[in-house]
Amino acid sequence: MENEEENIITLIMAAGKGTRMKSKKSKLVQKIYGKELVKRVVELAEKIGSSEIIAVVGYLREQVEAVLENRVKYAYQEELLGTGHAVMQAERYLKDKKGKAVILYGDVPIIRPETLKNLINKSVTGKEYATVLTAIYENPTGYGRIIRDEGGSIKEIVEEKDATPEQKQIKEINSGIYCFDIEALLDAIHKITPNNAQGEYYLTDVIRIMNEQGLKTGAMIVEDNTEILGVNDRSQLELLTKVLRNRINNLHMRNGVTIEDSSTTYIYDDVVIGMDTVIHPNTTIKGDVVIGENCEIGPNAYVREGCRIADNVKIGNFVELKKTIIDSGTKVPHFIYLGDCEVGKNTNIGCGTITCNYDGINKNKTLIGDNCFVGSNVNFVAPVKIGNNSKIGAGSTITEDVPENSLAIARQRQINKENYNK
Ligand code: UD1
Ligand code: CA
Repeated sequence: MENEEENIITLIMAAGKGTRMKSKKSKLVQKIYGKELVKRVVELAEKIGSSEIIAVVGYLREQVEAVLENRVKYAYQEELLGTGHAVMQAERYLKDKKGKAVILYGDVPIIRPETLKNLINKSVTGKEYATVLTAIYENPTGYGRIIRDEGGSIKEIVEEKDATPEQKQIKEINSGIYCFDIEALLDAIHKITPNNAQGEYYLTDVIRIMNEQGLKTGAMIVEDNTEILGVNDRSQLELLTKVLRNRINNLHMRNGVTIEDSSTTYIYDDVVIGMDTVIHPNTTIKGDVVIGENCEIGPNAYVREGCRIADNVKIGNFVELKKTIIDSGTKVPHFIYLGDCEVGKNTNIGCGTITCNYDGINKNKTLIGDNCFVGSNVNFVAPVKIGNNSKIGAGSTITEDVPENSLAIARQRQINKENYNK
């Protein structure tokens, strides 16, 4: 994944306010699929092989810093005087450095790393001092417009508020993502003035300045517009979650996993699923989870962090699993909770069974062997261990270990009081 030839320093613009979110939290620490927006952007920067990542923080910076910790370096923008001003705040990290500076926004979290690598490659091979990631929008209102010359080369970027009526007709917009030559960027950034409709230091002015200096610039149109979507309010948060969900689901389907209903299937990042496994509707698979081949999961299953499921396993409806390891051929068919549990091969877990894994202080383990048969509605009070080839009677509350090849029954005997209701 590393870009061998070129040193890459990534700047993440993360100083802005997010008032439309209606939240006490910075919008950058809102989560999509369990991960903060800004953390997704940092992971993106890591994936493209950045040697340094600088977050320009300001508004609610302590929240952003609490999420990113020392994974990045920080620059502080006290007053929001524009995107150009934000870059100026990171100058000390760029000074005397060679290579490329990639600019990302902390609230634009689902760009694919491949897209950024293509942008960097275009910039390196085309010897461009600035390469802008652009998009074609049917409704470009609000965005900076890409002005090209007669030859089709990018000339400058004009903000909506500064644009002439003719320029407003242009449908090619600035995504705000760029790859710059570091030295040329630092040189140009000092030439920016706030002489514009908003009185801001526009980073976009760097394009015009470089062109005036005779430095080559370029633009790359993004293939999939959804990649550059940003988050300003909660409905955009939902939209991006959907886009990300479909992207992940499609990836699994391309790898040979059947997903019966993608619109109700939530598979978070970093989940591994083997070929010919079928995911039934309303299933959530979250956190670091590995599922083998030819399994059936769901409907209405919830597989949580730390699960390892081998091949040919059935996880049925209303089953929740957490930190549970299940070996091949085992069936966990309905209304079951297993937490901190290990189950061997070819075991059957009865309906309504649960592990009582939490004693209020500690999480304890339940170990169930190979070829076991657990009857319906069993409670395993952990820590507890069931040997291979054993059976547990329905309705048992198991508090003590069961040796192998045994039958354990742990429930009240039934009493019939005859003629009681007479
Ligand atoms: C900017 C671009 C515009 C582009 C649009 C894409 C400029 C002048 N304009 O618009 O061409 O179409 O992005 O979304 O660059 N930020 C700071 N400090 C600041 C200002 C902004 O950190 O002083 C951050 C914001 O938090 C945000 C990003 O930079 O993450 C973009 O700022 P925003 O105000 O949304 O974009 P515009 O300047 O309107
Ligand atoms: Ca039960």
